[in-house]
Amino acid sequence: MKIFKTALLASVAAFASVGAAQAQGQLNLLCSVQVEWCQAIATNFQKDTGITVNMTQKGSGESFAQLRAEKDNPKADVWFGGTGDPHLAAAEEGLSDTYKSALNDQLQPWALRQYDASKGRSIGVYSGAVGFGFNTELLKKKNLEAPKCWADIIKPAYKGEIQVANPNSSGTAYVIIATLVQLMGEQQAFDYMKKLHPNISAYARSGTGPIKAVARGETAVSMSFVHDAVTESNAGFPVSYSTPCEGTGFEIGSMSIIKGTRNVANARKFYDWALGPEAQKLGYTRGGQLQMPSNKATPLPPGAPDLTKMKLVEYDFVKYGQAAERRRLLAKWDAEIGSLPR
Ligand code: G6P
Repeated sequence: MKIFKTALLASVAAFASVGAAQAQGQLNLLCSVQVEWCQAIATNFQKDTGITVNMTQKGSGESFAQLRAEKDNPKADVWFGGTGDPHLAAAEEGLSDTYKSALNDQLQPWALRQYDASKGRSIGVYSGAVGFGFNTELLKKKNLEAPKCWADIIKPAYKGEIQVANPNSSGTAYVIIATLVQLMGEQQAFDYMKKLHPNISAYARSGTGPIKAVARGETAVSMSFVHDAVTESNAGFPVSYSTPCEGTGFEIGSMSIIKGTRNVANARKFYDWALGPEAQKLGYTRGGQLQMPSNKATPLPPGAPDLTKMKLVEYDFVKYGQAAERRRLLAKWDAEIGSLPR
């Protein structure tokens, strides 16, 4: 009897919550952080609001390409996460819409820089710096030093030992190129990447592919966001990281509401929710991610790389977020680096 009653109550509750969810409508979420975090925000937003979330995870460059392709009939309502540059390119191309959240006052200045640069069409949700991830056991086995500087990783000793992502699909890899161009000058940066090419064993599709390969012991070194290295080390892998001695670049991981969405009220609800400290904490507590959160009230996750202690370039987000500049640099990378024989 008890079992029956519980089952009956459960089915009534399930029916009621389906009804509530239908009443609240839905949200189509395009998500460019790691899948564990994407799933955590989808589940918790749905739980908090009754809005049904349909989530798709894709890299920053791939998400931008999808939004362009769907411009006249957008399928996504909100784009959460991913590097800031393609969010700016999307803003410039009219793929995202303006929205001013009441939570803007609670955000770090760098998060609002993204808001200003996009003319109110995008906002910073987290920040993270570029560096080297490495497998400490594999380095020891191969008698290799842990890289400390950009100058180190072009040495012949690292031949075939490094992975980085492809900048067409990955925002991480685009930030790395833009960082090198800003540090060295464009010609020198492309000469540098040509010298680096023999040391690269694979250009992965996603920004986190290379650090996951490091964790699995498939490659010794990756060029990655360093918070992703801490995620792997927290998961028990022999992974550590360094930030380049010459200076490095960083991302303003961003969020944008898609122009022409049919679910604009729910998109705004999600946007406000995602800027709050409770939602931002999920990145670490449920997703195991260690970026710097944009709401001043969200604590820095324990062990998160602290950008305020790093030598950072004055990253020109406006310039490198321009759609034409991004396209030009990607085409040049394809022609001069990606197509080189291996
Ligand atoms: C990971 C990082 C994020 C970054 C994202 C970009 O999820 O933790 O900080 O924004 O990669 O992904 P992508 O595949 O576009 O390089």
